[in-house]
Amino acid sequence: MKADLSTVNAGKVALITGSAARIGASIAKHLHKAGFNIALHYNHSQHAAETLSKELNDIRTNSAYCFEADLKNLKAIQQLAKNTLTHWDKIDVLINNASSFYPTPLNDITEEQWQDLAGTNALAPAFLCKACFPALQLSKGCIINISDIAASTGRTDFLFYSMAKAALNNLTRSLARELAPDIRVNAIAPGAILPPNFSTSDGVNNTTESDPLSISCLNYPGKAEDIAYAAEFLINNTYTNGQVLNVDGGKRLKF
Ligand SMILES: NC(=O)c1ccc[n+]([C@@H]2O[C@H](COP(=O)([O-])OP(=O)(O)OC[C@H]3O[C@@H](n4cnc5c(N)ncnc54)[C@H](OP(=O)(O)O)[C@@H]3O)[C@@H](O)[C@H]2O)c1
Repeated sequence: MKADLSTVNAGKVALITGSAARIGASIAKHLHKAGFNIALHYNHSQHAAETLSKELNDIRTNSAYCFEADLKNLKAIQQLAKNTLTHWDKIDVLINNASSFYPTPLNDITEEQWQDLAGTNALAPAFLCKACFPALQLSKGCIINISDIAASTGRTDFLFYSMAKAALNNLTRSLARELAPDIRVNAIAPGAILPPNFSTSDGVNNTTESDPLSISCLNYPGKAEDIAYAAEFLINNTYTNGQVLNVDGGKRLKF
């Protein structure tokens, strides 16, 4: 008989960074439907986080709570783990989804950009893993890092972001070894899912790929839900560890 996942996961807690909107929010909704209580982390998107929290709590009372933190601040990272534990007393799943993302062509790179892009995409996930480690060890939980296929392919004009995501992939593999057998660590590497959340100084978002075939082998971009399904798969498949799962419609095959 197939187990009802919403019952199996009842009372479990998933902390998802950057989950007020877009891919993070989709993962939050999906895992909430699967029975998890959701620690919704945000930095600037307080209104969106609170709206989503209300939506989830209307479905199941006390099943979502918002936590603010600037993940470039190490003390705030520790506090985020502490606040989640104060509220729910446990963490079963940590999803490092928050990310800064913008072009850094070689000629224009600055140290500040590196601090920001490496900070949110690699350093913050490492320190949040550290802060959540005791709780995840107790729950025999798992970590999922949201990476990018650019980590392995590289990406023109996105040098620092791609370098930071490559570090995140290595964090995934190194911690999968170090934290086994108690905690599994995997990553998801999306291809083209949602248009970027920034505009350039001339107001034009010139990273949108005009040729649909360049988006994937399937001619169309993925959906945020495709990433959420992948996250659920990695949580449920307890023999998967140290993997970086490409969810890219085959785009990686084109390189
Ligand atoms: N979109 C895609 O097609 C695509 C493709 C490949 C990989 N990915 C990866 O998938 C994940 C989600 O993508 P997305 O496009 O949904 O992300 P996004 O909207 O660009 O960013 C997600 C969240 O990260 C948070 N964030 C940024 N800097 C932060 C900081 N210093 N402290 C705390 N939070 C911070 C922001 O929270 P606030 O809004 O609350 O400030 C933002 O809402 C990312 O890791 C991204 O690299 C996405």
